[in-house]
Amino acid sequence: MSQTVSMEKIVSFCKRRGFVYQSSEIYGGIRSSYDYGPLGVEMKRNIREEWWRSMVYMRDDVVGIDAAVIMHPKVWEASGHVETFNDMLVESRTSGRRYRADHLIEEATGIDAEGMSPEEMTRLIQEDERIKDPVDGGRDFAPVRPFNLMFETYTGPVKSPENLAYLRPETAQGIFVNFKNVLQTSRVKVPFGIAQIGKSFRNEITPGNFIFRTREFEQMEMEFFVEPGTDEEWHEYWIEERREWYTRLGIRPENLRLYEHPKEKLSHYSKRTVDIEYNFPFAGWSELEGIANRTDYDLRRHSEYSGEKLEYFDQAKNRSYIPYVIEPAAGVDRILLALLVDAYHEEEAPNAKGELERRTVLKLHPRVAPTKAAVFPLTKKEPVSAVARRLYDDLKGDYRLFYDDSGSIGRRYRRQDEAGTPFCVTVDFDTLEDKKVTIRDRDTMEQERIPIEAVRDRLAKLISAS
Ligand code: GAP
Repeated sequence: MSQTVSMEKIVSFCKRRGFVYQSSEIYGGIRSSYDYGPLGVEMKRNIREEWWRSMVYMRDDVVGIDAAVIMHPKVWEASGHVETFNDMLVESRTSGRRYRADHLIEEATGIDAEGMSPEEMTRLIQEDERIKDPVDGGRDFAPVRPFNLMFETYTGPVKSPENLAYLRPETAQGIFVNFKNVLQTSRVKVPFGIAQIGKSFRNEITPGNFIFRTREFEQMEMEFFVEPGTDEEWHEYWIEERREWYTRLGIRPENLRLYEHPKEKLSHYSKRTVDIEYNFPFAGWSELEGIANRTDYDLRRHSEYSGEKLEYFDQAKNRSYIPYVIEPAAGVDRILLALLVDAYHEEEAPNAKGELERRTVLKLHPRVAPTKAAVFPLTKKEPVSAVARRLYDDLKGDYRLFYDDSGSIGRRYRRQDEAGTPFCVTVDFDTLEDKKVTIRDRDTMEQERIPIEAVRDRLAKLISAS
C-alpha cells in the first residue's frame, strides 16, 4: 500500500520506469540533483498545467508572468534575503562535515531549535552530550554561524564585487518588481493575483529525501494583492482553495493536513503562514506548499529601495494604498513525489486466465498521468495493426499517447498500469467487423466496447471528468 512504500522502492521505481534519474549519473552523480525522464517530464508538465489552469485560466482575477532568474542584486537586499535568508551551519571538527545546526539538535534531543540564535545553538551543542557527529560520534564542533542560502554568480567576464548577482531563491520577487508593469499594462483591479512558475535555487546545507529537498527546484507561486483589512479573510479563502486542489488531483484527504506556523517562527515578511503538508511514509508530515500573509512588506520595501511608488489607486474609494499580499507557494517536485507515493499500489489482480497475479499500479489522476492512453493492436499483423495505427495517429496530437504492439495483451496492460496510464484501447479481430474497440480502465480493470469513431470523445470525457 502507498503509505508503507519505502524511499528505496520509490527511487528505484522512478529510475526503472523513467520518471527520475540521478543527475550526471555516468560521472557518479551529483548530490541532490535529479533529471526527469520521459515519464517524469510529462507528469511534471501536467502538474504545472493543472496549477496554471486552476490559478489562471479558471479565474477572472489572476494573470501570469515569467520573470528572469537573474535579477538586479538590489532586489534581494530589498526583499531581506541578503540579510536574513540563512540557515544555521555547524561544522564538526572531527569529521569535517557540516550540518544544519537545528536539524542536528532536533535529531539528537527532540528539541525544536529553529529560530534560536547562533549563540544559543552553540551553547546547547556544547552542553548537551546527546548531540554527536552522526558520522563519527565526535563532540568537537565549531561555533554555529549563519549561512546564506543564495547561490552567487557574476554577470559579465569580470568576477568583481560590483558584478555580483544571485540565482533567485524564490520566484515571488519577480512578481513584486513587476507589480507596476502589470497594473499599467493589463486591466486588473484589486483584488487580483499574478502567477508564475519557474526554477528557484537554494544552496541547502542538507538537501535530501530524493526530490523533496534539492538545490535546484521548481516553484509555482501566486501573489494575490488585496485591500488591507480584507487580508485575513482572503488568507482563509486561499488556504481552502489550495487544499481542495490537492484532493481534486486525487491525493487522499487523510494524507493531507494544515500546519499553522507558530508566531515566533514566522518568516520576516509574514503575519501568518499555514502549510499544506503531506504524510510521506519516509519523512512524516512535510510541507508541500506554504500559504503566507506577506502583508505589504515586499511592495513597501521595493518602494523604499527603488524609489518607485508601488501603490494602487482605488477609483471607487478615491484613495491610494499599498496592497497586502496573500501568497500560495508550492513546489512542483514535491507535489510530483507526493502524487507518486499516494498513487503507488501493489495488489493482487486476475490475469487473462483468471489467475491472481501481483501487479504494481500507479493510480494517478488521469489529468496528471504521464501517458493518458495506450493503443494496442491484438496482433502485429495487418489489417488489425493498420486500424490501430490509424487510430493512434488520429489521436496522438491531443495528448501523450503510447502505441505498443509487443508481448501479450496482459503484459502490455501491466506495463501501462505501472506507468500510471489510465486507459488502454485495444483493436482486435472483431474490430474489423463491428468497427468497435475495447477501452480498459486501469483501476477497475473493467472494459467497455465502443465504436471506433467515439473513442476521441469518450477518452476526452474520461480524462477530464474523473
Ligand atoms: N515565496 C515563498 C517561498 O518560497 P517556501 O516555503 O520557502 O516559500 C515554497 O517555498 C515551496 O517551494 C515549498 O512549499 C516547497 O514545495 C518548495 N521548495 C522550497 N524549497 C525547496 C527545496 N529545497 N527543494 C524542493 N522544493 C522546495
